Amino acid sequence: MSPVTGAFITFEGGEGAGKSTQLRLVAEALRQKGHDVLTTREPGGSPGAEALRTLLLFGEAELSPRAEIMTHFAARCDHIDRVIVPALNAGRIVLCDRFSDSTMAYQGYGRAGGEADTLEMIHDLQKLIKISPDLTLLFSASPEVARKRLEGRGGATDRYETAGLAFHERVRHGFEQISAQSPARFRHIETDARAIPEVTEIAAEMILTFLRTR
Ligand code: TMP
Repeated sequence: MSPVTGAFITFEGGEGAGKSTQLRLVAEALRQKGHDVLTTREPGGSPGAEALRTLLLFGEAELSPRAEIMTHFAARCDHIDRVIVPALNAGRIVLCDRFSDSTMAYQGYGRAGGEADTLEMIHDLQKLIKISPDLTLLFSASPEVARKRLEGRGGATDRYETAGLAFHERVRHGFEQISAQSPARFRHIETDARAIPEVTEIAAEMILTFLRTR
């Protein structure tokens, strides 16, 4: 893959941690400072990947664990090829709501409970796609606060949101493990006791500092 000139920044975290709201607000804050920002999401972000998102989140038939992982990566490849790499090559800042750390956390730790073969399969696929985030903001909230935010959100509930508390605890643990393995890439933001504008300010400053010093 040819060298890229933009910055690829991902927002990660469990359900109800506030990352999607923050992604929108941080994008506005960066644009106000003159940056050319593209916002996108996973699973999805391109027409083909959005079709796979519907299958993954709302499809009637549950896929086997390996098929589920491959489908997340199939969606990711379409998104990378058609949206992310062209934007990075145009020098844009790409803010992506979830990326392959979510596959590691949800499928690797949440669904497979951290089983070694599954983690290895996801690692191999991560290497295969040949692109990884320059910076990842990891948002977290306590289960109580996260649940309240989800209840207030409304809308259709997807396959992962309806998984039990134990699943989401494994996901939370997974994100901690993943960030501990790549400390230089991760920045942590705890959102429980912080108002939305304060979180936006912290997140935007983390990104601006990264862009100034890289
Ligand atoms: P969202 O609610 O943040 O839009 O994400 C959709 C759901 O998909 C969320 O519950 C996390 C899940 N997910 C995975 O299980 N694996 C993945 O690789 C990605 C990107 C998301």
